[in-house]
Amino acid sequence: AEKIILDTDPGIDDAMAILFAMNCPDIELLAISTVFGNASLQNTTRNALFIKNKFDSTFDVVSGAEKPLKKTPNGPTDHVHGIGGLGIVEASDSHHLPISTPSWEYMADRVRADPNEITLVAIGPLTNLALLVEKSPEVVPLVKKVVIMGGAFGENGHRGNVSPVAEANIHDDPLAADIVFGAEWPVTIIGLDVTHEVLCTDRYLEKIRDSAGPSGEFIYQVTRFYVDFYQQSIGKRACFLHDPTALTFLVSPELFELREGPVRVVTEGCAEGMTIQKIETKPYSYDDWQQRPNQSVAIAVDSQKVLELFSNTV
Ligand code: BDR
Ligand code: CA
Repeated sequence: AEKIILDTDPGIDDAMAILFAMNCPDIELLAISTVFGNASLQNTTRNALFIKNKFDSTFDVVSGAEKPLKKTPNGPTDHVHGIGGLGIVEASDSHHLPISTPSWEYMADRVRADPNEITLVAIGPLTNLALLVEKSPEVVPLVKKVVIMGGAFGENGHRGNVSPVAEANIHDDPLAADIVFGAEWPVTIIGLDVTHEVLCTDRYLEKIRDSAGPSGEFIYQVTRFYVDFYQQSIGKRACFLHDPTALTFLVSPELFELREGPVRVVTEGCAEGMTIQKIETKPYSYDDWQQRPNQSVAIAVDSQKVLELFSNTV
């Protein structure tokens, strides 16, 4: 099984991704590292502990950044995930506490102890991973790989979800994302180009509720708010499986088509948070992509198979 540390801001689809990771025989979930994003750090951490408690799980919970590296935090996003972060589900305080080490340091220690074995999967703003790169650069080559949900490259007509060109996780901390994509570790980027192809209907969620026991009931409850939000924004009772799709890549990479090339992030101005991959080989006069490692961007997905893999696993 793939040993992973899941860096996340739960978050409704994050909670779905956590349940996928917990139930997937091909994934060993070592720890959850939390970050601000869909809700405050306090709430995302409480939600992670609540899920751990509710499903009697053994993974560590460690908390990370409460704000972006440099920029002023974006305003609240409670219209998408609710104030607490899990929609209409209110997380009760769990008797567990997060591990007190900052999450970048926890990740560095785990990776050093188990070199080339641990995959980092990040499905929230990339602040914790950027802190790891900046504070423990010697650990970067020891990470097996990095998989992230974030970004939008205009493939399949999908550009942004918080601005015409920016995806939420990247827009929350563009500088952090630029650092993570520029580091010498292999990153696979699962962005809106593919996650906006993975739409699950309310009917699909009802089936999960009726056949997946307590996980199914929980998924159904947390998605009520999310489906209401998407009804407003796309006019259908459905929602995108953003974060779970990144986890399905880990176990079934053959369902995705990838494209190689260095990636940069716009860190200021009206295109803040835009992600751009250089796919030409020629050097330009002004080439901020030169000297940066190639990373992989997912540009196509077998969405039917992703939906099946998700429901069969949870
Ligand atoms: C991403 O932003 C958050 O709202 C979701 O949890 C997901 O990680 C989608 O743009
Ligand atoms: Ca998320």
